[in-house]
Amino acid sequence: MGAYQIIGGRPLEGAVQIHGAKNSVLPILAATLVCGGQYTINNCPEISDVDTALDILRRLGCKVQRSSSQIRVDTVAAEYREIPEELMRKMRAAILFLGALLARFGEARVSAPGGCALGERPIDLHVLGLRLMGAECEYDGETLRCAGKNLHGCTVALPFPSVGATENLILAALACEGEVTLCNAAKEPEIGDLIGFLRACGARIEGTGSSVLHISGKAALHGTDYTVMPDRMEAATYLAAAAATRGRLVLQSAEPAHLQAVLSVLERGGCEIAQRPGEIIVRCDRLQAVSPIVTAPYDGFPTDAQAPLMAAMATAEGVSIFEETVFSDRLRHVPALRAMGANILATGRHAVVTGVKRLNGATVEATDLRGGAAMVIAALSAEGESLVTKTEHMERGYTSFVQTLRSCGAQIARQ
Ligand code: EPZ
Repeated sequence: MGAYQIIGGRPLEGAVQIHGAKNSVLPILAATLVCGGQYTINNCPEISDVDTALDILRRLGCKVQRSSSQIRVDTVAAEYREIPEELMRKMRAAILFLGALLARFGEARVSAPGGCALGERPIDLHVLGLRLMGAECEYDGETLRCAGKNLHGCTVALPFPSVGATENLILAALACEGEVTLCNAAKEPEIGDLIGFLRACGARIEGTGSSVLHISGKAALHGTDYTVMPDRMEAATYLAAAAATRGRLVLQSAEPAHLQAVLSVLERGGCEIAQRPGEIIVRCDRLQAVSPIVTAPYDGFPTDAQAPLMAAMATAEGVSIFEETVFSDRLRHVPALRAMGANILATGRHAVVTGVKRLNGATVEATDLRGGAAMVIAALSAEGESLVTKTEHMERGYTSFVQTLRSCGAQIARQ
């Protein structure tokens, strides 16, 4: 179990290199399975979730080579096998191999995916779409078995624009006879990146950026080279850290177009933001409270930025009200922020944050990827020493987190 020792109270100042997006590279790695070929994926983040995805590909008989941010995958020799439960349980994105396995082999058996505990995380929308394509799916709450060697075109109207369900159904649709129309599809930039990758492989997919996608099945696919988009949630985390510590950061290789809802909140909170393609500069004195901050599917305020922004608002001037509408239990970082002196009243999906002048260092335990990042942000802005444990959560999604923060003046060390 890892831990970060942090001495807070210093403004973050300097430049941060934003890496490839975790939530884009994971579905893209799963997608390499759909068609046997050679793939070179550039700008891959060096995080443990990518290690897990590569382990899954190797278990399925693929050849994988990695040199820092470049990954080469050869999926020609892939064979149908069941993904071991211990790998499935490591991350939610493992479920994305379901659609890829079904498209390649006509069958798939995956266990209920793991990943951050954010409340209920069912896969009923994934199953809904697969069944409409003609797959036979049996789910006993632990294991999902799907079979479908003759999938067909259909229209799937998703009750909720689920990111994972949209990604899985795009992959499965590639094997359908005819066209699959996804209505109320997720519009997150990571979906656009997956579609960009698949079109580079020869797929015929229309509607990128909209909530209606048209996927033509049975297109001739082939290997390709592709560069992953920048990680907007890594960028949001460092923006929140700059605001919380009243510092100034230059985010390089960031894509401001993907972060308008977050940038708007920070500007309304008094931050000076300069943005151009590939770069975001943020400078902040004491934040002013912003209310309400309501999470929503893209291009609303992203749920993954909720915890980091709450950590920053904990020392803002005034009262911020947060509402988490995407996940049922995504306020699990609040007790740790309160342990540092934050004045937060949380119930159900709402949190009322009354800014205090200063937080105080404390020993806290990371609850999940973004909640743990929020605790680090709070510790960086706090007076005194903090210890944040269970840092394996943060290692899942932030490349060189400690080194990057140290390079901007943070007093942080891995224990
Ligand atoms: C993806 O998770 C991301 N993970 C999450 O990022 C992100 O928070 C989430 O999308 C929302 O943007 C990856 O891309 C690997 P959903 P996913 O399906 O696909 C409900 C991070 O920190 N739902 O859009 O699991 C679900 O319970 C992670 O990087 C169903 O009810 O998100 C939730 O309440 C955390 N039935 C809501 O939809 C389903 O079949 C959103 O889930 C599927 C989802």
